[in-house]
Amino acid sequence: MRAAAALLAAALALSPNAATKADPAAPASPSSAAPAADAPRSRMDIRNFDVADPKASGRGGEVYQSNCAACHDQGLGNAPQRALFTFMSPHSIVRALTSGAMKAQGQSLSDADKAAVAEYLSGKKLAQAAAPEPPACQGAAARFDFAEPPVFPGWGLSPGAVRAIPAGLAGIDKARAGKLRLKWAVAFPNASQMRSEPALGGGAVFVGSHNGEVYALDRQTGCARWIHQAGSEVRTAIVLTPWTRGDAKARPLAFFGDIVGNVYALDAQTGAQVWRIRAEPSPYATITGAPSLYEGVLYVPVSQLEGMRPVDPMFPCCKSRGAVVALDAQTAAVKWRTYTTAEPRLLGLNAKGGEHYGPAGASVWSSPTIDAKRRQLYVGTGGNSTSPATDTSDSIIALDLATGRVNWVYQGLSGDASNLACLAADKTSCPTENGPDYDFGAGAMLTTSANGRQMLVAGQKSGEVHAIDPDTGKLIWKAKPGRGGILGGIHFSLAADGGLVFAPVNDTPNLDHKTGKPYVEPAHPGVYALELATGRTVWSAPADASACVPGQPCRLGYSQAITAIGGLVFAGASDGTLRAFDARTGALVWRYDTTRPVRTVNGVDASGGSFGGGAGPIAYRGMLFAGSGYARTGVLAGNVLFAFEAR
Ligand code: HEC
Repeated sequence: MRAAAALLAAALALSPNAATKADPAAPASPSSAAPAADAPRSRMDIRNFDVADPKASGRGGEVYQSNCAACHDQGLGNAPQRALFTFMSPHSIVRALTSGAMKAQGQSLSDADKAAVAEYLSGKKLAQAAAPEPPACQGAAARFDFAEPPVFPGWGLSPGAVRAIPAGLAGIDKARAGKLRLKWAVAFPNASQMRSEPALGGGAVFVGSHNGEVYALDRQTGCARWIHQAGSEVRTAIVLTPWTRGDAKARPLAFFGDIVGNVYALDAQTGAQVWRIRAEPSPYATITGAPSLYEGVLYVPVSQLEGMRPVDPMFPCCKSRGAVVALDAQTAAVKWRTYTTAEPRLLGLNAKGGEHYGPAGASVWSSPTIDAKRRQLYVGTGGNSTSPATDTSDSIIALDLATGRVNWVYQGLSGDASNLACLAADKTSCPTENGPDYDFGAGAMLTTSANGRQMLVAGQKSGEVHAIDPDTGKLIWKAKPGRGGILGGIHFSLAADGGLVFAPVNDTPNLDHKTGKPYVEPAHPGVYALELATGRTVWSAPADASACVPGQPCRLGYSQAITAIGGLVFAGASDGTLRAFDARTGALVWRYDTTRPVRTVNGVDASGGSFGGGAGPIAYRGMLFAGSGYARTGVLAGNVLFAFEAR
């Protein structure tokens, strides 16, 4: 067991993908925005980070050793590896333990112990002042512009959620992309990742932060019109209610969810809270995918954080399941709630006497896709978190908009159940299926091929793309641009435009979940274009190490959602570089290294990092917005929203 854990750690550190050599000469970037090879770097290589001996570190070290080390020493699953905490503020560690992702782990700790472990892990004192917020807007920059209703309908950016922004709306195309320059950048205090896709409307950029704050920033300058403190990290996109152009009596709302399962409606003009509810009674509920708004109903996807608890064999595993909850957008009244599995019940005891519950899992962590014509919505589900696996995990499910009734289920992979125990030293609560953890985390796209056929196209962590008949849920074609893995394969989105499907592949160097050994098939990190009608590969842009910086972790691959903009595909990579590829040929047209520190409107220098999560780049009227930074093992933390302008 110990050997396996050590092997995992070694694989994470010494992966063939974790290239560390930069080759400043290749490829010659056509962009003047690409940094000079000798640009100053402020980054620490976490693999060489000198972690103090916990036994010699007083109370904080003791608390860490007995309550946290089992998961964070190795960075089990998606737990941030211990060294990553040095990129976090002590405030955000306390917040995670009090009201965030680690609430369950923090429950038994006193306030003094939370403070001690936070200071120990961050290497900073709680008394230290937090970084400054962006300045408050003055005059015209502060005014809400009713002449500008929401630019996009929601996370998927277009009807059918295909994540395509036409050149006319974006103000960016192949000719203008080379002219993109940084216009402003905002740093988010107490944050080490950026996962919330911005929304545009009223002249503002609405975006959530790792610190649990939601901002309305002036689009031209990045100053803050208002800042709302939500309970904990906001990973979802912000969704705005539409209004009639110029209607100054409109009272638009801004919706989002947080990591501990709350859903919010704010007054989009003022940031005042209108309502807040828990979408789901489970204490482990979390909202990762953005809610979708359609005809006054908010459809909320519910995921869960319970799958990390079974590392403790006595934890009663598992009772949390995926769900979609339909809410009246004005009042938050629940119209219907549909779970992805039957109600869990006690099934027996595990080998150590801990209670075994099931079925559970099949989380929904992508944004629901609305099909107005068929009056149904589509969600993807993840694997089960306990045995038995169900026929609804790793699936695309069509639900009736009015009632939540299941119209059909397309299962991409059957028999997939796993939880964090499968990667831990004590595997007692690892389900017999033991993975491979091939969720559908990328929202399904409803789109029409050249021959007029409507198709639902979805990407899976297995590395596969599935085209499904939206009427029946039957497979039309399947392609496999990626090898797959627990962090993708295809992680957070696809995009589609002009008869092509674009697939970002994030094959990571983790061990094969099933065998605990390195994968037999090599990883294929990169961006791929497939023909929508057939699934045939049209071009591929394999990731290479040319943008890696010596002494800085550099994982290759594309985890973050991508966007097709004006004949280009904008894709943020784990190496910290945002790239624009020609959508027809895959040729690299523009790139920008977000790991290089920039002066932010906050008045301090800050940098992005790896791109990850559901926040893809968006563009409007010649401006491009991209959030960068992903606090995960092997990738780069960062806390910056970049606003570029083509000029
Ligand atoms: C059972 C395994 C486990 C234990 C024990 C555990 N963690 Fe975590 N921790 C995780 C996982 C998994 C995540 C990632 C959650 C996510 O982002 O979805 C995480 C995330 C975090 C984060 C980042 C939260 C954020 O806002 O991004 C912090 C900080 C953290 N843990 C601190 C701690 C501390 C301090 C302890 C001990 C008191 C602890 N954890 C115990 C598994 C664990």
